[in-house]
Amino acid sequence: MKKIAVLTSGGDSPGMNAAIRAVVRKANFHGVEVMGINHGYEGFIEGRMDLLDLGSVGGIIQRGGTKLFSSRCPQFKEDKYQYQGIEKMKAAGVEGLVVIGGDGSYRGALELTKKGFPCVGVPGTIDNDIPGTEYTIGFDTALNTVIESIDKIRDTATSHENSFIVEVMGRDAGDIALWAGLAAGAESVLIPEEAYDIDEIIARIRRGEARGKKHSIIIVAEGVMSGSELAKILKEKANIITRVSVLGHIQRGGSPSARDRVLGGRLGAKAVEVLLEGRGGRAVGIKNHQVIDYDLEEAFTQKHKADLSLYTLSKELSI
Ligand code: ADP
Ligand code: F6P
Repeated sequence: MKKIAVLTSGGDSPGMNAAIRAVVRKANFHGVEVMGINHGYEGFIEGRMDLLDLGSVGGIIQRGGTKLFSSRCPQFKEDKYQYQGIEKMKAAGVEGLVVIGGDGSYRGALELTKKGFPCVGVPGTIDNDIPGTEYTIGFDTALNTVIESIDKIRDTATSHENSFIVEVMGRDAGDIALWAGLAAGAESVLIPEEAYDIDEIIARIRRGEARGKKHSIIIVAEGVMSGSELAKILKEKANIITRVSVLGHIQRGGSPSARDRVLGGRLGAKAVEVLLEGRGGRAVGIKNHQVIDYDLEEAFTQKHKADLSLYTLSKELSI
């Protein structure tokens, strides 16, 4: 291959720019040009792209978001738009594509590969919900954003002896809630992967009050319910008054952590290697600290499993 392209798709995440930078630098190192496609699959369909040279990815490693913008493009699910984009790529001499995004973007990458346009997936999402890789780019930064926010909430919770419900992102995965719960010392964590017992949550709050705890922090993943719904249940069932903080999109921003910058660099470079070896239809990831690549299809046939040992530990440590 002498020319490839890269795009970012779906929910953006801190570290995507580090991955973009690595794709360009690694490809150029091997004498391969890189076109940057703007606005994800929307730009792919329209052939909206610019040449990315070494200088164009300078000064971005520390920046959140994505210099290529991103999109959610439902029409791309239709074959005719996928073929239209492939024609635009061929007309520009682009021979392969690195897709940086979440599981939805991976599905698009697989469809393109099946249509003869080789793609390699790089896991870029804060959700950490892509099967086959232990971490996704953006998860660590989002986690640190959440615990910094909870530490701030805990200050006012202590001052006013109020309990707080903190609603976090993760779409259908509980990793952000689970890891943040442990890292921030939350009293209770609700995740989609585990059925919650409201009576147990109430009993835990009461036990804490009995031993002098002045407040509780309850983290709820958005895939379970909203923070306000949980507040309503606690009020109606046990007259427990709580305040609700929905962290929302601040979890998607911020300067990427060192871990996400390094992960973005390693995985972006690996994706170029795999593509240049002529192995489309692959995803790159991290397993036991090693960079790996695996069949893109595996990212759908398997289901991401939250590490439930953290769930048990979180309950034990917050008695
Ligand atoms: P993420 O990649 O973060 O999971 P989405 O689920 O929104 O975000 O997927 C991003 C984009 O990937 C979608 O807007 C759509 O363009 C494309 N996509 C998602 N699912 C499919 C699919 N089954 N076939 C083709 N393209 C898809
Ligand atoms: O997939 C990343 C993510 O931030 C999810 O955690 C969240 O549910 C979703 O995107 C929000 O999507 P949008 O930014 O389109 O509202």
